[in-house]
Amino acid sequence: MANSRITPYRNGPYLIRGDFTLVDQDGEEIETRRRTIALCRCGASRTKPFCDGTHKTIGFRAQSGSGDGERGRPA
Ligand code: FES
Repeated sequence: MANSRITPYRNGPYLIRGDFTLVDQDGEEIETRRRTIALCRCGASRTKPFCDGTHKTIGFRAQSGSGDGERGRPA
């Protein structure tokens, strides 16, 4: 069973809860200090990769689930 949970919030960030390690693309750890963090998925945060709430002011819209049958699509 996974010890972390990732939730795409409707019109908002990805919430990551549990035991996880956040790293950049070079594998360097990004310090989080919390067991729950919010990662930006609107692209407008000034504190990327973290959400700073800007998604609300820009009117970002996204579903919580995939809703379009693209589950599991590779990056
Ligand atoms: S999702 Fe919150 S600032 Fe981008």
